[in-house]
Amino acid sequence: MPKLKVNKKEFVLKEGEAVKKYCEEAGVVFGCEDGQCGTCIIQIKDGKENLSEINQNEMDLGIEADGEMRLACQCRIEKGNVECEGYI
Ligand code: FES
Repeated sequence: MPKLKVNKKEFVLKEGEAVKKYCEEAGVVFGCEDGQCGTCIIQIKDGKENLSEINQNEMDLGIEADGEMRLACQCRIEKGNVECEGYI
């Protein structure tokens, strides 16, 4: 089972599960929840290869495929472990 660590809190997820609700539980602030505002930006500290591919909404907000930033309302964990930090 994939594990997600957000702001030092750890969660066990299902493969392919969205990270949004766990990030919310860890205090990450959300706005539109639809990939439009950028409020939910998170920095991936480890395991970015275990997240779903960057989507068009993220690209439209300047998220780079080889960077460390993602939108928590848009990505899913596919496998393995991911550690990130968000603004709370
Ligand atoms: S909450 Fe607006 S982009 Fe994620």
